[in-house]
Amino acid sequence: MNLDFMTVYLYGGHVTSWKDEHGEELLFVSNKAIFKPPKAIRGGIPICFPQFSNFGQLEAHGFARNKIWSVDTDPPPFPVPISSRAYIDLILKPTDEDLKIWPHSFEYRLRVALGPGGDLMLTSRIRNTNADGKPFSFTFAYHTYFSISDISEIRVEGLETLDYLDNLQDRARFTEQGDAIVFESELDRIYLGTPSKIAIIDHEKKRTFVVRKGGLPDAVVWNPWDKKAKAMADFGDDEYKRMVCVEAAAIEKAITLKPGEEWTGKLELSAVPSSYYSGQLDPDRVIQDSVVPEDSVS
Ligand code: BG6
Repeated sequence: MNLDFMTVYLYGGHVTSWKDEHGEELLFVSNKAIFKPPKAIRGGIPICFPQFSNFGQLEAHGFARNKIWSVDTDPPPFPVPISSRAYIDLILKPTDEDLKIWPHSFEYRLRVALGPGGDLMLTSRIRNTNADGKPFSFTFAYHTYFSISDISEIRVEGLETLDYLDNLQDRARFTEQGDAIVFESELDRIYLGTPSKIAIIDHEKKRTFVVRKGGLPDAVVWNPWDKKAKAMADFGDDEYKRMVCVEAAAIEKAITLKPGEEWTGKLELSAVPSSYYSGQLDPDRVIQDSVVPEDSVS
């Protein structure tokens, strides 16, 4: 589906394009990306559900990014209406095959919307529809690939002083010491208990991406650098220079839903001109989130 300034694939419920008002692409998609099953599309915004990475027995990053979603023609209303220029509602329900590998019934509703000012807004509503009375738990990430001028020129702000698990060192726990994250080699970290806003500052492009999130306490920062880039069949050898993943996530503490409960996880992306610091972001604009008991969902 191409809705002018964004493109969404039914395959994976996957956003592959988000453009600014000049038509410039803001998400990175590899030139070698394959847009059909069985592998997820390399770039854009893969949805990692019901498992992030190998935090469990399922395939890496779960199965949602490898499934064909449907258009949701009659989604339940949102408690607070989302004001948008354009939107699409998708839904994913498990097939009999899915139930064999993850024995839980769910309804995953995804709204992808373009805000009045061009922001990209994703809202995930995941409901436990188990008839057997059993709760289920999952981990989650919006695995966003941002398009950047040059990995050596950018910095990520908003994660300073936080603890992180280093995926390159058996997930050992460290505390971030720098005043921003800069990139000089492969980096693959899960930052824990992160604020609702993170900024990716691209000096060369004179552009800052602002990531706002709700219901997603963690944030993964990833760049594969040269060696890992070469090892990925669906990724160009030099493409690591033009991308960074900053992924709004819930990993350290899995989300648990009882039957009838619904969880909401939100992502809002803005691209703003010139140098911009996370400290200057509107401190009051926090996205609300939560697990809502069945009877309080309108
Ligand atoms: C990141 C992980 O989220 O995704 C990395 O932290 C991983 O460890 C990367 O390499 C890409 O994963 P995949 O399955 O899409 O190749």
